[in-house]
Amino acid sequence: MTEQSPALDNLLTESRTFPPSDEFAGQANAKADLYATADADREQFWAGQAERLSWDTKWSQVLDWTNAPFAKWFVGGKLNVAYNCVDRHVESGHGDQVAIHWVGEPGDTRDITYAQLKDEVSKAANALSSLGVVAGDVVAIQLQMVPEAIFAMLACARIGALHSVVFGGFSPTALRARVDDAAAKIVITSDGQYRRGKAAPMKANVDEALQGAETVQKVIVVKRTGSDLEGETPWTDGRDLWWHELVDGQSPEHQPEAFDSEHPLFILYTSGTTGKPKGILHTSGGYLTQTAYTHNVVFDHKPGEDVYWCTADIGWITGHSYIVYGPLANRVTQVVYEGTPNTPHEGRHWEIIQKYKVSIYYTAPTLIRTFMKWGEDIPAKYDLSSLRVLGSVGEPINPEAWIWYREKIGANKTPVVDTWWQTETGAIMISPLPGVTAAKPGSAQRALPGISAKVVDDTGAEVPHGGGGYLVLDKPWPSMLRGVWGDEERFRDTYWSRFSDQGYYFAGDGAKYDGDGDIWLLGRVDDVMNVSGHRISTTEVESALVSHPTVAEAAVVGATDPTTGQGIVAFVILRGNAVDGGDDAVQELRNHVAKEIGPIAKPRQIMVVAELPKTRSGKIMRRLLRDVAENRQIGDVTTLADSSVMDLISSGLNSGKEE
Ligand code: WT7
Repeated sequence: MTEQSPALDNLLTESRTFPPSDEFAGQANAKADLYATADADREQFWAGQAERLSWDTKWSQVLDWTNAPFAKWFVGGKLNVAYNCVDRHVESGHGDQVAIHWVGEPGDTRDITYAQLKDEVSKAANALSSLGVVAGDVVAIQLQMVPEAIFAMLACARIGALHSVVFGGFSPTALRARVDDAAAKIVITSDGQYRRGKAAPMKANVDEALQGAETVQKVIVVKRTGSDLEGETPWTDGRDLWWHELVDGQSPEHQPEAFDSEHPLFILYTSGTTGKPKGILHTSGGYLTQTAYTHNVVFDHKPGEDVYWCTADIGWITGHSYIVYGPLANRVTQVVYEGTPNTPHEGRHWEIIQKYKVSIYYTAPTLIRTFMKWGEDIPAKYDLSSLRVLGSVGEPINPEAWIWYREKIGANKTPVVDTWWQTETGAIMISPLPGVTAAKPGSAQRALPGISAKVVDDTGAEVPHGGGGYLVLDKPWPSMLRGVWGDEERFRDTYWSRFSDQGYYFAGDGAKYDGDGDIWLLGRVDDVMNVSGHRISTTEVESALVSHPTVAEAAVVGATDPTTGQGIVAFVILRGNAVDGGDDAVQELRNHVAKEIGPIAKPRQIMVVAELPKTRSGKIMRRLLRDVAENRQIGDVTTLADSSVMDLISSGLNSGKEE
């Protein structure tokens, strides 16, 4: 554990509550008794949820936790995840229901029915098999939000191959590290992507990433930008294949094979406290059970009636669990949007909601705050009356944003569900139930029925109501991670060693109970930042900075930011021979980080300093740097090896080195 987050000391004063209307409560999928039902017999409760899926072979045991922390759920059961998300809806007579209303950034659209989805996924599965991809192989996918991304993920699931989706904004270096770590055999990407009205290259970056990548046999390229992109798409004969040439001619018939409930479904990399991202492993039966269950109860989703829209990118866990697996298992009709929220104008989301009559909308606090900044008159121009549930995820939502969301987007009547979970948990863990909970702005409130969470102190003892500490999950759950790819030790160390006596999963978040025992999340307590709902480790950014020839040393902290939640603030010491820390040098370093990791990791601010505050054992005291970055009075400096360092830093800053 590193230093305690200052957020833990925050006292919360929010006291407004918003119970559901009688009308909403009456029609809700989840009623208040669900908590008691789940508590009475947890395993039976989860078995009931698993029965919402279609199993080829039924399980013989719900949970095997004898080899903790490696859980097995629905032991002996067999199912095909893609069959559950696609074919069974066609078989039950819903082939003509639209699964995906896809909206391209330039304004082109595609409506894809379940029957068409079945054909596309089957063809893609046949295509992968034709390339020799078999169950257990890894397919890396770096694609923007195009339908082929979803087809590709489901095609992998259908044949038992694992996908490793890499966010489209990640750099070639970041893609390569992920391809190598998982020994990916195939990479699926596109020629280019539309970003803010312009076509930007994608394949060129992938080529740069894959130079000398020995495990990769084929690269499949979706044609998206075509001639809008300047120049020819770089091509390696014998390795590269166009998606349309490979897939379109395949047979739409494909027999899905049933895989073990614990068969790996995907790897998704996320930042930890070291520079090396962790490949979080998820498996099939438990993951699909919990994503489908939570999508059903948290969003109150009614198949065939609701139009759902989750604005996440499939490069993150939210896109996996709440665009692809949970919603499609529940026979959703959903909007998938390719572009940015202000292209071509700042009303784009509201225009889409109006057009498709979106009824459930799930987004991130950072975007809500951005909408607030753009002004309430923008959503006011559109008919948003179809909305009936609003969701939030990714970081703590501040009460002002919560209230704005409910009032300006939800006509002051829709429930707002603040959903806490992580890449590792696979699915929502703590959230109000929209038809049950009297919602409190800013609180995720309570573990869902079937889930158990606690706030504990340093010794693992539960804190009393009103007290703060660390969030733990004290009972295994179906969609829990099954490990860190290729690194059992890191899996045990990161999540299970902190409270090993109690056997608790340590989430890395600070939290507190209010007087009613509702949970308020207070942000990370480790060296992981949360920027616009994206996890970035301070160490990752530090190593990117020191990889630049002018940098001798770097320390990075996350500082509170009104829009992005946290902003990345870096303190760097330049090498003796580096010229100076002028604006150009700082700009160059910011771009360097963007190039090394991706634009999302670009520091908001870089401060050139002469020294960094260190303890006598040489550990950088980030707490003090956070004080500086957040313009606070600097805290206790007595453990510093040289206590004058902070004066130096502060006086340097006041002379205006920041941007
Ligand atoms: C971290 C997980 C879960 C999908 C998106 C992020 C923070 C997430 C909330 C929330 C407060 C939240 C936590 C968590 N977080 N949702 N509703 N309230 N904090 O997934 O990249 O795995 O990040 O995001 O700090 O540990 P992720």
